[in-house]
Formats: sequence, structure tokens, C-alpha cells
Amino acid sequence: MYKNIKAAVAGSINMDLILKAPHIPECGENVVGSDYGYANGGKGANQATALAKLGAKVKMIGKVADDANGRKLVENLEKNGIDASGVAKDGTQTGLAAILLDGEGRNRIIVYEGANAQINPKEAVEAIDADTQLLLVQFETSEDVVTAVVNHAIESGITTVIDCGPAKNFALEKMQGATILSPNESETKALTGIDPKNEADVLQASVILKERSKAEFIVLKLGERGCSLYDGKELKFFSAFESKVVDTTAAGDCFTAALALEYVRSGNIEKACITGNKAGSIAVSRLGAENSMPTVDEVFGLN
Ligand code: RIB
Repeated sequence: MYKNIKAAVAGSINMDLILKAPHIPECGENVVGSDYGYANGGKGANQATALAKLGAKVKMIGKVADDANGRKLVENLEKNGIDASGVAKDGTQTGLAAILLDGEGRNRIIVYEGANAQINPKEAVEAIDADTQLLLVQFETSEDVVTAVVNHAIESGITTVIDCGPAKNFALEKMQGATILSPNESETKALTGIDPKNEADVLQASVILKERSKAEFIVLKLGERGCSLYDGKELKFFSAFESKVVDTTAAGDCFTAALALEYVRSGNIEKACITGNKAGSIAVSRLGAENSMPTVDEVFGLN
């Protein structure tokens, strides 16, 4: 279904340390954990893995260090069929995320950027192959890298999808005219000052995001409420699919990848929102970041 689509992801690659506990400690509190483990993560690598699992041809552009975590993460990308030739291996330390997971599957994440903050913007642009049809970026690398690759992709006529994680007030004005801009609730608040709680807030935030970015479509990820779509004229909502929440980590990454891929395939943004919701609902029902990404059969098996 998606196997003829050539995608590139410019973004972060992290080793995730996941610690589970009944609740997240308050300041000064000690909590006994129930489980821990290491997992391959990073918003960029998660989105690349989601695209690859859905069947696309994917090139990863990023940076790790030549250390044990860096080597393991690159090996894993390759194992997932991702072209890792765009991943430089000369960072000082590979990125690390400490993910605290509570009894209800909600997370709190601290990211040490490491090599992700050392990507060279020019090298990142040069790594985008001329026949790329889709570029996916997030905000877990430097603003210079994101701006450079997005502007290059827009100028080259590549479908460009910006996932606005993690939350920060990024200078959207520096990269105008992407195809889709997609923040979650906290990212929307960081970018607009508006918490998208109800329909009026969603609309107001979407209008601001559209004005600032001039993106063709603004798609807000609204967690258990699904997502909203604003095209400059109309606001629509698409409900989430039911699932038992085990771990919300990377569900947004999965949503964005599926949204982007379906939009490139069909050119239908509404279908793309529904596909994103389906994929995200599967990702929340599984533990881990990239391990939770569904296959195309799983996504299209959902009704
Ligand atoms: O979006 C989830 C990701 O955020 C995790 O894999 C972690 O690495 C952080 O970057």
C-alpha cells in the first residue's frame, strides 16, 4: 500500500530508559518502581520506524555518537529496513530519554539531547535525496536544522510534515508553507498560549498556527479525543478509536507518521486523519516507543 513511497525523517535518535511505577514521584519523594527497561526511541527514529513498519522506504537523517548506544540504535534502524546512511556517527554522546511511566500508562520524559543537538544543518539538507516524496521533522533537533530541512523540502516540492514535539515556542515564521503542521495539546499551548480544551479553543489555536506557519493543514492531536483538522476555512474533528491504554509514549509519533503516509498516498487529508487515529490507538495499547508501532495490516484491520 505504501511501499512505493520514499520518505525521509530528519530528527532525533535516543536510547530510552523506561521506569514504571504506580505513580510519578512528587518533588523530594521516593517511589519504588515496578519495572524498567531500555528501548530504542527518539521522536525522529520512532517516526522513521513507524513509516517503515507501515511499508514505506525510509531514510533516517540524524546523529548519534560512536558509543554503545549509538551503534545499537543505528543497527536497529537498519534491522527495521531503514536506510541509516544519513545518520552521522560523530556526536559526543548519543541522546538519552528517561521516561517515567505511571500505573495508567501516562509518561513524563526528560531528554538529554547529546548528538541530536549537534546535527549540521547543511549536511542534513544534503542528505535529503532528490526523489524524496515525504519529509517528516520534529522539534527534538536544533531550530537551525529543522528550519533548513523544512525550507529545502518546501522549495523542492516535497510533502512536508512537521510534528511539533517536544513542546516549545518554535519560530514557525521561519518555515512557511509546509503541508501539515501537527502539534499535540501541550505543544499547541506552547506555540499559541491556548490550551485546546474545547471547540472554540481548538479553532482559535488552529487559526494562530495557520497564520504563523502558513501550513496547508493544521492537525491537532487531542489524545483520547482524537484529532482536529483546520484548512483555513473549516474545522473538523475525527474521533479516536477505542483502545486500552498501556503506554502513551510515541503514540503521537505513530499518529504523525501514519497521517503523513496516508496523505501522500491518497491526497485525502480526512482519510489521513482517520488513519493517524487508528495507528495511534494501536500504539497506546503497547509498551515502548518504536516497539509499539503497528503494521499496515493492523491499521487497516481496525474499524
Ligand atoms: O515521542 C516519544 C519519544 O520522546 C521517546 O522515544 C523519547 O526518546 C523522547 O524523545
